[in-house]
Amino acid sequence: MCGIVCYIGPREAAPILLEGLKRLEYRGYDSAGLAVADGENTCLVKEVGKVSRLEEKAREAGPRGTMGIAHTRWATHGKPSVANAHPQTGENDKIFLVHNGIIENYLVLKEELKKEGHTFKSETDTEVLVHLIEEYYEGDLAAAVKKVLGVVRGTFGIALFHRDSPDRIVLARRGSPLILGIGKGEFLAASDVNALIRHTNQVIHLKDNELAVLNRHDYAISDFQDRLVVRETETVEWGADAADKKGYEHFMLKEIFEQPDAVENALRGRLLEGEGVSRLGGLEGVLDRLKSMERIHFVSCGSSYYAGLLARYVFEKITGFSVEVEYASEFRYRNLRLDEKTAVLAISQSGETADTLAAIREAKRKGALCLGLVNVVGSTIAKETEAGVYNHAGPEIGVASTKVFLSQCVVLTLMALLVGRYQRLSLTEGLFITRALKKLSGQLRRVLESAPRIEEIARRYARYDNYLYIGRLYNFPIAMEGALKLKEISYIHAEGYAAGEMKHGPISLIDPEFPTVAVVPRDSTYDKMINNIQEIKAREGKVVAVAVEEDEEIAGHVDEVIPVPRSIDILQPLINTIPLQLFAYYVARERGCDIDKPRNLAKSVTVE
Ligand code: G6P
Repeated sequence: MCGIVCYIGPREAAPILLEGLKRLEYRGYDSAGLAVADGENTCLVKEVGKVSRLEEKAREAGPRGTMGIAHTRWATHGKPSVANAHPQTGENDKIFLVHNGIIENYLVLKEELKKEGHTFKSETDTEVLVHLIEEYYEGDLAAAVKKVLGVVRGTFGIALFHRDSPDRIVLARRGSPLILGIGKGEFLAASDVNALIRHTNQVIHLKDNELAVLNRHDYAISDFQDRLVVRETETVEWGADAADKKGYEHFMLKEIFEQPDAVENALRGRLLEGEGVSRLGGLEGVLDRLKSMERIHFVSCGSSYYAGLLARYVFEKITGFSVEVEYASEFRYRNLRLDEKTAVLAISQSGETADTLAAIREAKRKGALCLGLVNVVGSTIAKETEAGVYNHAGPEIGVASTKVFLSQCVVLTLMALLVGRYQRLSLTEGLFITRALKKLSGQLRRVLESAPRIEEIARRYARYDNYLYIGRLYNFPIAMEGALKLKEISYIHAEGYAAGEMKHGPISLIDPEFPTVAVVPRDSTYDKMINNIQEIKAREGKVVAVAVEEDEEIAGHVDEVIPVPRSIDILQPLINTIPLQLFAYYVARERGCDIDKPRNLAKSVTVE
């Protein structure tokens, strides 16, 4: 959730670190800090709030030096404050350390250290780590780190250096990503490729229980048992400009507008049109096993969970699987049947979400076939699953997921199509789906053309403090996702509901100040949706409807209509998603919210 950037090389480190932090700010933004060493002195600068505030403070402090570490924080232990910001230092300010993750046994360790005379300046678990390393330090920082990591429990990605050897950065990982950037005559490291990509596209992902030492002229990776690790560099396929705003006011808006491309990328080379089937290279090795499964579980969090919820309907429609969808955070508490007849698919944009990762590890232990649908190449979930598919949606920076959500829905449809064609789906039905998929990105482009109309509606509706979102069947998960988008970025209370459940509770909330967003496609649920809308109107509730262009009847029932092109029933929810994203975006903008960095949220939730 926090972000780490490190640099060692011939250039001034501070500007590189600050620029890198800005690219990671979407991962955490309540405080930030850096430590830069020039061989003799080390300059430590920390500040509460966004990286821009740290930048101002750094301008005054003028840190000079060609090596440094930096961090942007999302508070877990201790409120956002300068004292709690990283880098954390030890008793005599010799060791400087940044940390992502959580040290679970820090309280016990802290008490022990206090008894031995250590005093603490912060409330963080990270500071305990520094003091411990100090305790074990006998001139070799990497050796001390290895010893300490045998004592601490929890997850970490750490980077640190010692004032006495300012030509060396030590990094270690367990459960929180760290990537080395191998530049020309310089080395970088970060918790996310975004922070490196402007300097190099040659990267190495550290694995759990590995440690790396960056020197001025080389680097070395070893495991915690001191065995040397030799690993090839990987080339990042996208360039730095993919992570720029490209003239859009916010990353979220840019990513909403990138959705037709994201869909094309998700489909590229994956449709065998003549055969009405898909081809997913990442699943080929396990296809025979997958076809013979009885059950599939989707595990995920946030928007990725809603993608799974939609996929449940699609898989039930076109495959023979029985399907379960579960929040990853709840998965481990259930006593599910997870055996060799069960596939578990982790759906995760980042590939690093702690709960999703924990769910996969649990499923593996029980013998299930574990698969991943992940956007970030080389991420932990991608590495820990037996097989899987990448979204290829490019980096998603806006905290509220948009293009990757849509891409997940597309890839999940491709997976269902693949399995379905070996099971109950006929060639004709397969062709029906592949043809509709081919048309999808063009239809999405048309929806995006209605952005000004949605903006105008959103402006008028931005003053309400509560919202209900309703849909049925394939569009129920979309209503949930629409409500999530609104609450994430505008802080408006919004509930997503299956429209049929409305009469069992939420209708009591409806009054002229409590509007409803209804997703009303022309499918088998249409008449029932109209009934629900009439029940709302009878209570003077306002209704904004997303409906297909051919629907001439809907305008007579609701206050506002956002028309969208029509697709087949299983793909219609993808088209319906865009107006809900744009509505949330424009409402949040009207209310002056910080759209790309909503309060209290982080893009990648790497603690359970
Ligand atoms: C956070 C993000 C959401 C995302 C969720 C799951 O809450 O703010 O946008 O949907 O994590 O993340 P994942 O990377 O596993 O899809």
